[in-house]
Amino acid sequence: MRRSAVLRVALAAVALLAGVVPVVRAISGALPERPLPAAITDPVLARSDYLENCGGCHGIHGLSAPAQLPELRNRVGWFMCTPGARAYLVRLPNIAHSRISDNQQLADLLNFVVFGLGGDSVPPGTQPYTAAEVTRERQFALSAASLKKERARYVEEAIRMCRAPVAMRLLFPQAAADKIRR
Ligand code: HEC
Repeated sequence: MRRSAVLRVALAAVALLAGVVPVVRAISGALPERPLPAAITDPVLARSDYLENCGGCHGIHGLSAPAQLPELRNRVGWFMCTPGARAYLVRLPNIAHSRISDNQQLADLLNFVVFGLGGDSVPPGTQPYTAAEVTRERQFALSAASLKKERARYVEEAIRMCRAPVAMRLLFPQAAADKIRR
């Protein structure tokens, strides 16, 4: 079995045991990703890095509701609205302190998340992350204590400056949770 296949089986088993519906739904449902920017040097690696390092919490297709963590699918792109907000994504502890030490590889992973999962939330003309940007911003990793405040600040910026939906104030749209419970 390929490594990603093993991971999928493992995730499905964990999901079944824990009764985590979104992961199962994400595996069975066909959810196409957007075309990825050419700046991603290795799209296959970027996708498997996401599955391995992030998908367990955020869902393999970026769908995590109703778990109390932010849904990435069709939402994460709003953080590309302002320089501070895009830096925020790099400064998140799980990203800044990632065991991926190669900054181009981490930029590829972030570009996969933003452009592959972010859908229509990515503002037009958004430039992909570069290795230089990731190298710079990951030095300023946020502490767990400041996350909530920082997120609120960048969400308000995106609502004001990029017309992000006010539902971004929540970690996931209520409709996503309702759909799963039904
Ligand atoms: C242990 C679970 C967990 C893992 C693993 C994880 N995250 Fe997160 N992520 C969270 C939580 C919880 C938040 C909310 C803020 C916080 O506490 O960091 C978050 C916030 C985010 C956000 C901000 C989205 C928003 O709407 O605020 C992004 C983007 C993100 N994570 C991407 C990633 C990526 C990329 C990886 C893999 C390198 C990753 N996360 C790994 C749990 C996780």
